[in-house]
Amino acid sequence: MKLLEVKNLKVDFDTPDGVVHAVKDVSFSINKGDTLAIVGESGSGKSQTAFGILGLLPKNGHAGGSVRFEGTEILNLREAEINKYRSNKIAMIFQDPMTSLNPYMRISKQMTEVLIHHKGLSKRDALAKSVEMLDAVQITNAKGRVHMYPHEFSGGMRQRVMIAMSLLCGPQLLIADEPTTALDVTVQAEIMDLMIDLQEDFGMAIILITHDLGIVAGTCEETLVMFGGEVMEYRKTVDLFAAPDHPYTKGLLAAIPRLDRPIDRLSTVSYDFMTGGQE
Ligand SMILES: Nc1ncnc2c1ncn2[C@@H]1O[C@H](COP(=O)(O)OP(=O)(O)O)[C@@H](O)[C@H]1O
Ligand SMILES: [Mg+2]
Repeated sequence: MKLLEVKNLKVDFDTPDGVVHAVKDVSFSINKGDTLAIVGESGSGKSQTAFGILGLLPKNGHAGGSVRFEGTEILNLREAEINKYRSNKIAMIFQDPMTSLNPYMRISKQMTEVLIHHKGLSKRDALAKSVEMLDAVQITNAKGRVHMYPHEFSGGMRQRVMIAMSLLCGPQLLIADEPTTALDVTVQAEIMDLMIDLQEDFGMAIILITHDLGIVAGTCEETLVMFGGEVMEYRKTVDLFAAPDHPYTKGLLAAIPRLDRPIDRLSTVSYDFMTGGQE
């Protein structure tokens, strides 16, 4: 059985100008412990795919299709029901940690509340577990720093805190939505390495959402390429890099700067494929 199986997922938004089809007929699946990348430019529907799965759409958004987690349909469950999956079985981390961390609350409080609420732990055990998780994401002096406020951490450290929080309940699936986009390139690489190490230690599956095909190569077995809310390609990452099927994917690949070629000019993705190169 697949860990997560998404079939014909649609996400529509009602707007004053009519219905916006943000996600159209997206299907994919992921096995226990595997890694899948969802790649595409900004606005291609990556985040709404994740929000649709987890029931996190705003009021004007509607999801359709099917999402099965370990065989059970979880799409459009009532809030109380989907809450049993969120954090516990499927955790999500976002691009900007400050949108998910409460700036006025110490990290200790934010982490322990998750464990007290979802796992019924005592305050004391919850604090011990929180420190253990900060250790796991290599935050030094976790015992002392667990009591700090989010703004006392650097951007990279905050993202580590977010990862630690997402792992608290031992999820089987982690959906990481552009987890490194807001960070410096060197810090990006550290966070990616950390996520891969943690995946091996904790045995969870990861869906990595990114607009950057460059960080996908060494990390994800399969890649799904989105454009305009649709799936352009969904293949093994090695095959995609070796011979991209779709002109859009070719463009994305060509836009990755390479060390083995001189750069005369930075490549941008061209959309000739939409008009068949006729324009
Ligand atoms: N609240 C909303 N109301 C209407 N349309 C929206 C809303 N949120 C997102 N969309 C539409 O969904 C599309 C996909 O967004 P998103 O999934 O966030 O893209 P990304 O691939 O950058 O994560 C956007 O281009 C936008 O048109
Ligand atoms: Mg997004």
